[in-house]
Amino acid sequence: MPAFRFLTAGESHGQTLGVTVEGVPAGLPLTADALQVDLARRQRGYGRGARQTIEHDRAEIVAGVRHGQTLGSPILLLVANRDWENWTRVMQVEPLDAEAAADLAALAADGNKKAAPVTRVRPGHADLAGALKYGFNDVRNVLERASARETAARVAAGGIARAFLHELGIETWSFTAEVGGVAVDPANTTRSREEADASPLRCPDPGAEERMIARIDEARSNGDTIGGVFEVVVHGLPIGLGSYVHWDRRLDAALAAAVMSINIVKGVEFGLGFEQTRRFGSAVHDVIEGRADGGRWVHRSNNAGGLTGGVTNGEPLVVRGAVKPISTLARPLPSADLISGEPVEKAHYERSDISVVPAAGVVAEAMVMLTLATFVVEKFGGDTMDDVRESVERYRERITRVPEAPVAGASRHGLVGTDEASSGGDD
Ligand SMILES: Cc1cc2nc3c(=O)[nH]c(=O)nc-3n(C[C@H](O)[C@H](O)[C@H](O)COP(=O)(O)O)c2cc1C
Repeated sequence: MPAFRFLTAGESHGQTLGVTVEGVPAGLPLTADALQVDLARRQRGYGRGARQTIEHDRAEIVAGVRHGQTLGSPILLLVANRDWENWTRVMQVEPLDAEAAADLAALAADGNKKAAPVTRVRPGHADLAGALKYGFNDVRNVLERASARETAARVAAGGIARAFLHELGIETWSFTAEVGGVAVDPANTTRSREEADASPLRCPDPGAEERMIARIDEARSNGDTIGGVFEVVVHGLPIGLGSYVHWDRRLDAALAAAVMSINIVKGVEFGLGFEQTRRFGSAVHDVIEGRADGGRWVHRSNNAGGLTGGVTNGEPLVVRGAVKPISTLARPLPSADLISGEPVEKAHYERSDISVVPAAGVVAEAMVMLTLATFVVEKFGGDTMDDVRESVERYRERITRVPEAPVAGASRHGLVGTDEASSGGDD
């Protein structure tokens, strides 16, 4: 079991979301204000729906921190759902007594959409499979947890990972790279990171952003939705995080799973990603220039996106995620009824976003940082932040040293170079 891990709880319209983060060393400065920054970034973005005007997310730190410093014990964060006050009866935790059940039934009979059980399953959602899997006849029991509202808890936890990694000189951010086929042109990324972050789509290319906004408006006026691509970039990672020795120790695999776990992501790529399949090797692989002053290894390009063999290679980490168009359409798709099994003209409609690429990028930052924190804690351990810092510094110093020249038959780590061993190809 990894030393650093987290688990979320909470329903979309329940009282609160919660997340427990385990394995944070003692002595990390942490405040609710610091966690607020990413929570607010997740809520912004052109194309988001009415829910974001109701929620003003704030994580309350209720355990694991004292006087602004982590204690080494599990940290518990709560993110209240403001909208809950409109759903108290529908989402009541305690059993409904006869009177409450009758009230709810009367509301539903009156056409109150919140009170009515949901049976018209929505295409592109977990509704149908989830209801059958867990034996529900009211799809609300599925959609409340499958909803991406849960990603607010991940982003809150990601804020802890951000604070932890920041202490070690590791910084993460993301931007919107594509919406509805309109892509950022690297030659036109004139905005600074701060300017991009403040722009409607968190996009560094102002011209592309305008055309992306037009695509979102087009979707909105057609009662439709639209997807895109975000890019997460991490600077300051040491060479050697992750390992090639086992499949489950590869950092690329763990990051791909973490980003893929975001409700709406349908593909993950690193660096050039799928584009590599269209080029010759000579136009793909990053030539190693050599060791620069200070012992830093330099590559001529970063097409691999900072990872080779599942291990960080000292270049910035570049992860991109494919965001599908939002499943819930203002002009709902046809579907079927869970109970009758018969087609229905319109799937259930639940208040919805039109496009969430910038928000998905912020969630991806959180998932990337939480994954990196897991690998950093595993590699550098430590009960206190000082322990971790010292361990990272010692390691960074070691990898900048010039290795001893090997002597055949007496190489330092017991690897004996024989003709057989050195002449084989890489299978
Ligand atoms: C930040 C964010 C906001 C989202 N908002 C909505 C939404 O308003 N309406 C919707 O239908 N899907 C929304 N989604 C996506 C759905 O939660 C997701 O598509 C659905 O749970 C099915 O999961 P899948 O897309 O991974 O198959 C959102 C996703 C994210 C990351």
